[in-house]
Amino acid sequence: MAMSTAHITTDHGKIQEWARQRGGKPAEVEGTGDGGPGVLRIQFAGDGEGQSLKPIRWPSLFRKFDEKGLGFLYQETTETGEPSRFCKFIYAPRGVLARLLSEHEDVRQTLEAMAGSTSRASRKRGRLLESLKKDLLPHMAGEEQVVYKAVRKACRNDRQIQTVLEGYEEHRHARRALQRLERADPSSAEWSTRQKVLKELLEHHIADEESEFFDLAYELLGADGLEELQAGYSAKEQSKLAAIS
Ligand SMILES: [Fe+2]
Ligand SMILES: [Fe+2]
Repeated sequence: MAMSTAHITTDHGKIQEWARQRGGKPAEVEGTGDGGPGVLRIQFAGDGEGQSLKPIRWPSLFRKFDEKGLGFLYQETTETGEPSRFCKFIYAPRGVLARLLSEHEDVRQTLEAMAGSTSRASRKRGRLLESLKKDLLPHMAGEEQVVYKAVRKACRNDRQIQTVLEGYEEHRHARRALQRLERADPSSAEWSTRQKVLKELLEHHIADEESEFFDLAYELLGADGLEELQAGYSAKEQSKLAAIS
Protein backbone atom coordinates (compact mmCIF):
# COMPACT_ATOMS: atom_id res chain seq x y z
CA MET A 1 0.00 0.00 0.00
CA ALA A 2 1.37 3.42 -0.90
CA MET A 3 2.34 5.41 2.16
CA SER A 4 3.83 8.19 0.15
CA THR A 5 1.69 11.01 1.48
CA ALA A 6 3.37 13.98 3.11
CA HIS A 7 2.92 14.95 6.74
CA ILE A 8 3.44 18.18 8.62
CA THR A 9 5.06 18.44 12.03
CA THR A 10 6.42 21.13 14.34
CA ASP A 11 8.05 18.57 16.66
CA HIS A 12 11.80 19.24 16.88
CA GLY A 13 12.63 15.65 17.91
CA LYS A 14 10.65 14.20 15.02
CA ILE A 15 12.37 16.48 12.49
CA GLN A 16 15.84 15.69 13.82
CA GLU A 17 15.16 11.94 13.84
CA TRP A 18 13.74 11.99 10.32
CA ALA A 19 16.86 13.83 9.06
CA ARG A 20 19.29 11.65 11.04
CA GLN A 21 17.84 8.42 9.60
CA ARG A 22 18.53 9.73 6.10
CA GLY A 23 21.93 11.29 6.77
CA GLY A 24 20.48 14.81 6.44
CA LYS A 25 22.12 17.81 8.10
CA PRO A 26 20.65 21.19 9.10
CA ALA A 27 21.54 24.03 6.72
CA GLU A 28 20.40 27.41 5.49
CA VAL A 29 20.51 29.17 2.15
CA GLU A 30 23.18 31.83 2.27
CA GLY A 31 22.64 35.41 1.26
CA THR A 32 18.83 35.59 1.21
CA GLY A 33 17.54 38.24 3.51
CA ASP A 34 13.81 37.67 2.96
CA GLY A 35 13.38 35.29 5.89
CA GLY A 36 10.76 33.10 4.16
CA PRO A 37 10.34 29.44 5.09
CA GLY A 38 12.56 28.26 2.23
CA VAL A 39 15.68 29.64 3.87
CA LEU A 40 16.03 26.62 6.15
CA ARG A 41 16.97 23.32 4.53
CA ILE A 42 17.93 19.75 5.30
CA GLN A 43 21.06 18.99 3.32
CA PHE A 44 21.84 15.48 2.09
CA ALA A 45 25.21 14.18 0.93
CA GLY A 46 25.56 14.95 -2.75
CA ASP A 47 22.97 17.67 -3.04
CA GLY A 48 23.12 21.39 -2.75
CA GLU A 49 25.34 21.59 -5.83
CA GLY A 50 25.17 25.05 -7.27
CA GLN A 51 23.33 26.30 -4.22
CA SER A 52 25.01 28.26 -1.49
CA LEU A 53 23.94 26.16 1.47
CA LYS A 54 25.63 26.85 4.78
CA PRO A 55 25.67 24.14 7.48
CA ILE A 56 24.15 25.33 10.76
CA ARG A 57 23.64 23.65 14.10
CA TRP A 58 20.31 22.11 15.12
CA PRO A 59 19.67 24.60 17.99
CA SER A 60 20.16 27.47 15.57
CA LEU A 61 17.82 25.87 13.01
CA PHE A 62 15.12 25.30 15.64
CA ARG A 63 15.43 28.85 17.00
CA LYS A 64 14.70 30.22 13.51
CA PHE A 65 12.04 27.53 12.98
CA ASP A 66 10.15 28.67 16.08
CA GLU A 67 10.67 32.40 15.51
CA LYS A 68 9.21 32.22 12.01
CA GLY A 69 6.34 29.94 13.08
CA LEU A 70 7.31 27.20 10.63
CA GLY A 71 6.20 23.64 10.09
CA PHE A 72 8.11 20.77 8.48
CA LEU A 73 6.49 18.99 5.53
CA TYR A 74 8.01 15.55 4.99
CA GLN A 75 7.43 12.14 3.50
CA GLU A 76 8.34 8.79 5.12
CA THR A 77 8.54 6.64 2.01
CA THR A 78 8.34 7.08 -1.74
CA GLU A 79 5.68 5.48 -3.98
CA THR A 80 7.92 2.42 -4.29
CA GLY A 81 8.43 2.10 -0.54
CA GLU A 82 11.99 3.47 -0.34
CA PRO A 83 12.81 5.95 2.45
CA SER A 84 11.91 9.35 1.04
CA ARG A 85 14.08 12.45 1.30
CA PHE A 86 11.25 14.75 0.30
CA CYS A 87 10.96 17.58 2.81
CA LYS A 88 10.26 21.28 2.92
CA PHE A 89 10.01 24.00 5.53
CA ILE A 90 6.68 25.80 5.30
CA TYR A 91 4.65 28.17 7.47
CA ALA A 92 2.93 26.08 10.14
CA PRO A 93 -0.80 25.90 9.48
CA ARG A 94 -2.65 28.61 11.46
CA GLY A 95 -6.31 29.36 11.99
CA VAL A 96 -8.43 27.91 9.23
CA LEU A 97 -5.38 26.15 7.71
CA ALA A 98 -5.01 23.93 10.79
CA ARG A 99 -8.63 22.90 10.29
CA LEU A 100 -8.07 22.15 6.59
CA LEU A 101 -5.01 20.10 7.47
CA SER A 102 -6.88 17.86 9.92
CA GLU A 103 -9.70 17.38 7.41
CA HIS A 104 -7.12 16.38 4.79
CA GLU A 105 -5.92 13.70 7.19
CA ASP A 106 -9.50 12.28 7.38
CA VAL A 107 -9.76 12.26 3.60
CA ARG A 108 -6.39 10.51 3.25
CA GLN A 109 -7.41 7.82 5.72
CA THR A 110 -10.70 7.13 3.94
CA LEU A 111 -8.87 6.96 0.60
CA GLU A 112 -6.42 4.42 2.05
CA ALA A 113 -9.30 2.33 3.43
CA MET A 114 -11.03 2.41 0.04
CA ALA A 115 -7.83 1.35 -1.71
CA GLY A 116 -7.47 -1.56 0.71
CA SER A 117 -11.06 -2.81 0.29
CA THR A 118 -11.93 -5.80 -1.91
CA SER A 119 -14.62 -6.19 -4.54
CA ARG A 120 -16.43 -8.65 -2.21
CA ALA A 121 -16.93 -5.88 0.38
CA SER A 122 -19.51 -3.89 -1.61
CA ARG A 123 -21.35 -2.59 1.43
CA LYS A 124 -18.15 -1.43 3.06
CA ARG A 125 -17.14 0.32 -0.15
CA GLY A 126 -20.51 2.04 -0.21
CA ARG A 127 -20.10 3.27 3.36
CA LEU A 128 -16.56 4.52 2.72
CA LEU A 129 -17.68 6.41 -0.36
CA GLU A 130 -20.53 8.01 1.59
CA SER A 131 -18.12 9.09 4.31
CA LEU A 132 -15.66 10.47 1.76
CA LYS A 133 -18.44 12.54 0.18
CA LYS A 134 -19.50 13.96 3.54
CA ASP A 135 -15.93 14.95 4.34
CA LEU A 136 -14.89 16.13 0.94
CA LEU A 137 -17.82 18.08 -0.55
CA PRO A 138 -18.30 20.45 2.43
CA HIS A 139 -14.52 20.84 2.67
CA MET A 140 -14.18 21.87 -0.97
CA ALA A 141 -17.19 24.19 -0.77
CA GLY A 142 -15.72 25.91 2.31
CA GLU A 143 -12.33 26.22 0.65
CA GLU A 144 -13.70 27.70 -2.54
CA GLN A 145 -16.26 30.05 -1.10
CA VAL A 146 -14.31 31.26 1.91
CA VAL A 147 -10.59 30.47 1.82
CA TYR A 148 -9.76 30.55 -1.89
CA LYS A 149 -11.99 33.59 -2.25
CA ALA A 150 -10.16 35.55 0.45
CA VAL A 151 -6.74 34.56 -0.89
CA ARG A 152 -7.77 35.37 -4.47
CA LYS A 153 -8.80 38.88 -3.40
CA ALA A 154 -5.43 39.46 -1.77
CA CYS A 155 -3.34 38.19 -4.73
CA ARG A 156 -0.80 40.67 -6.07
CA ASN A 157 0.48 38.94 -9.21
CA ASP A 158 -0.38 36.38 -11.88
CA ARG A 159 1.66 33.60 -10.33
CA GLN A 160 -0.34 33.90 -7.10
CA ILE A 161 -3.65 34.02 -8.96
CA GLN A 162 -2.63 30.91 -10.88
CA THR A 163 -1.98 29.00 -7.63
CA VAL A 164 -5.56 29.75 -6.51
CA LEU A 165 -7.10 28.96 -9.89
CA GLU A 166 -5.32 25.60 -9.96
CA GLY A 167 -7.14 24.76 -6.73
CA TYR A 168 -10.56 25.46 -8.27
CA GLU A 169 -9.61 23.45 -11.36
CA GLU A 170 -8.44 20.45 -9.33
CA HIS A 171 -11.68 20.53 -7.31
CA ARG A 172 -13.63 20.38 -10.56
CA HIS A 173 -11.67 17.27 -11.59
CA ALA A 174 -12.14 15.71 -8.15
CA ARG A 175 -15.94 16.24 -8.24
CA ARG A 176 -16.13 14.66 -11.67
CA ALA A 177 -14.01 11.67 -10.57
CA LEU A 178 -16.18 11.28 -7.47
CA GLN A 179 -19.37 11.24 -9.56
CA ARG A 180 -17.88 8.62 -11.87
CA LEU A 181 -17.00 6.46 -8.90
CA GLU A 182 -20.54 6.79 -7.52
CA ARG A 183 -21.93 5.51 -10.80
CA ALA A 184 -19.74 2.36 -10.76
CA ASP A 185 -20.83 -0.94 -9.24
CA PRO A 186 -18.75 -1.42 -6.04
CA SER A 187 -18.05 -5.06 -6.92
CA SER A 188 -16.68 -4.23 -10.38
CA ALA A 189 -13.22 -3.61 -11.77
CA GLU A 190 -14.42 -0.14 -12.88
CA TRP A 191 -14.96 0.80 -9.27
CA SER A 192 -11.35 -0.08 -8.37
CA THR A 193 -10.00 1.82 -11.38
CA ARG A 194 -12.09 4.92 -10.72
CA GLN A 195 -11.22 4.78 -7.03
CA LYS A 196 -7.52 4.74 -7.92
CA VAL A 197 -7.88 7.74 -10.23
CA LEU A 198 -9.77 9.70 -7.58
CA LYS A 199 -7.18 8.82 -4.92
CA GLU A 200 -4.25 9.96 -7.05
CA LEU A 201 -6.02 13.15 -7.98
CA LEU A 202 -6.91 14.03 -4.40
CA GLU A 203 -3.52 13.13 -2.95
CA HIS A 204 -1.83 15.31 -5.52
CA HIS A 205 -4.25 18.17 -4.87
CA ILE A 206 -3.92 17.96 -1.09
CA ALA A 207 -0.11 17.89 -1.28
CA ASP A 208 -0.14 21.02 -3.50
CA GLU A 209 -2.54 22.74 -1.19
CA GLU A 210 -0.49 21.99 1.92
CA SER A 211 2.71 23.30 0.42
CA GLU A 212 2.11 26.00 -2.19
CA PHE A 213 -1.36 27.18 -1.29
CA PHE A 214 -0.86 27.21 2.49
CA ASP A 215 2.33 29.26 2.07
CA LEU A 216 0.55 31.72 -0.19
CA ALA A 217 -2.43 32.03 2.16
CA TYR A 218 -0.16 32.72 5.10
CA GLU A 219 1.93 35.19 3.14
CA LEU A 220 -1.12 37.17 1.96
CA LEU A 221 -3.48 36.96 4.94
CA GLY A 222 -1.18 36.43 7.93
CA ALA A 223 -2.03 34.53 11.11
CA ASP A 224 -4.81 36.98 12.09
CA GLY A 225 -6.47 36.85 8.69
CA LEU A 226 -6.46 33.05 8.75
CA GLU A 227 -7.95 33.09 12.24
CA GLU A 228 -10.79 35.33 11.05
CA LEU A 229 -11.73 32.93 8.25
CA GLN A 230 -12.56 30.10 10.66
CA ALA A 231 -16.15 31.07 11.47
CA GLY A 232 -17.09 31.68 7.83
CA TYR A 233 -15.50 28.40 6.82
CA SER A 234 -17.41 26.40 9.46
CA ALA A 235 -20.71 27.99 8.47
CA LYS A 236 -20.18 27.25 4.78
CA GLU A 237 -19.18 23.67 5.56
CA GLN A 238 -22.26 23.12 7.73
CA SER A 239 -24.67 24.44 5.13
CA LYS A 240 -23.10 22.26 2.43
CA LEU A 241 -23.27 19.21 4.70
CA ALA A 242 -26.97 19.88 5.38
CA ALA A 243 -27.56 20.17 1.64
CA ILE A 244 -26.06 16.77 0.80
CA SER A 245 -27.34 14.80 3.82
FE1 LIG B 1 -8.87 21.63 -1.94
FE1 LIG C 1 -8.23 20.98 1.02
